[in-house]
Amino acid sequence: MSVTNNRALSFSSLCVFLITISSTLTTPSNSATESFVFGGCSQLKYTPGSPYENNVNSLLTSLVNSAMYNTYNNYTTSTPNSNTQDTLYGLYQCRGDLQNNECSHCISIAVGQIGTLCVDSLGGALQLEGCLVKYDNTNFIGVEDKTEVVKKCGPSFGYDSDALTRRDAVLAYLGTGDGGAYKSYRTSTSGAVQGVAQCVGDLSPSECQDCLSDAIGRLRTECGATAWGDVYLAKCYVRYMTGGVRSRATGGQDDTNNNDDEIEKTLAIIIGLIAAVALIIVFISFLNKLCDDGKGGNK
Ligand SMILES: *[C@@H]1O[C@H](CO)[C@@H](O)[C@H](O)[C@H]1NC(C)=O
Repeated sequence: MSVTNNRALSFSSLCVFLITISSTLTTPSNSATESFVFGGCSQLKYTPGSPYENNVNSLLTSLVNSAMYNTYNNYTTSTPNSNTQDTLYGLYQCRGDLQNNECSHCISIAVGQIGTLCVDSLGGALQLEGCLVKYDNTNFIGVEDKTEVVKKCGPSFGYDSDALTRRDAVLAYLGTGDGGAYKSYRTSTSGAVQGVAQCVGDLSPSECQDCLSDAIGRLRTECGATAWGDVYLAKCYVRYMTGGVRSRATGGQDDTNNNDDEIEKTLAIIIGLIAAVALIIVFISFLNKLCDDGKGGNK
């Protein structure tokens, strides 16, 4: 009986292994939304095992669950009959073009990363390309915050006045609300230049407008005539790129990025091949073991 149990165990662990490998191999399509942009944690820590820790866990769970249905939501969590110091505020925001399943996938990745990054921290924030997660013990929900979190600028256009005109047109469009009606998520394209803007959903239309104007101003003045630029403020961001080349959180030139993409593709293929070979080896030795066990049983 014990042998059978062992075999069942081997089968199930092999299955887990297979599932892990296949999910690793099928996720690269989502890699753009999952790319890390920034993360930070408050210096202050809570006592492990305290009610605050339970509140953090239940808040983060609420965010993940809610992301299946909404691109934005906020939560306030507190321990019943406890002092207000345990009260916790949190929110998430997905990029406006994500489907529900993409949003919830992004939030679960972000929540996993913030859990690793901000162990025992009273507050934390983590931005992936597709979504933002933030929690804190002071109420920041509905509060406009234009603190600059990330600013990255690409290489200069040089003397390409056409590119600069298009870049400015894209930024102007993003700043005027994408065709008039208020939108917290905006996109704009002019020739090869593409732009995207996103406010966190707790801002009012006028606060969102103000935040985006600030971010656009910083792109114009601080990045100048560059092929791409990213400005992330605490409650909104504006990004633009030229030629469909997404700027990378790590920075670098357009050409370098193209090469990086090629290298990544090649690397993905190589890793896939290695994984396939490893799988075959594991499977063969597994079969061998099964056969050996079978022989042993016959003796
Ligand atoms: C926070 O969430 C509550 C409940 O979903 C909602 O009524 C409220 O408008 C939200 N507040 C902000 C500032 O988004």
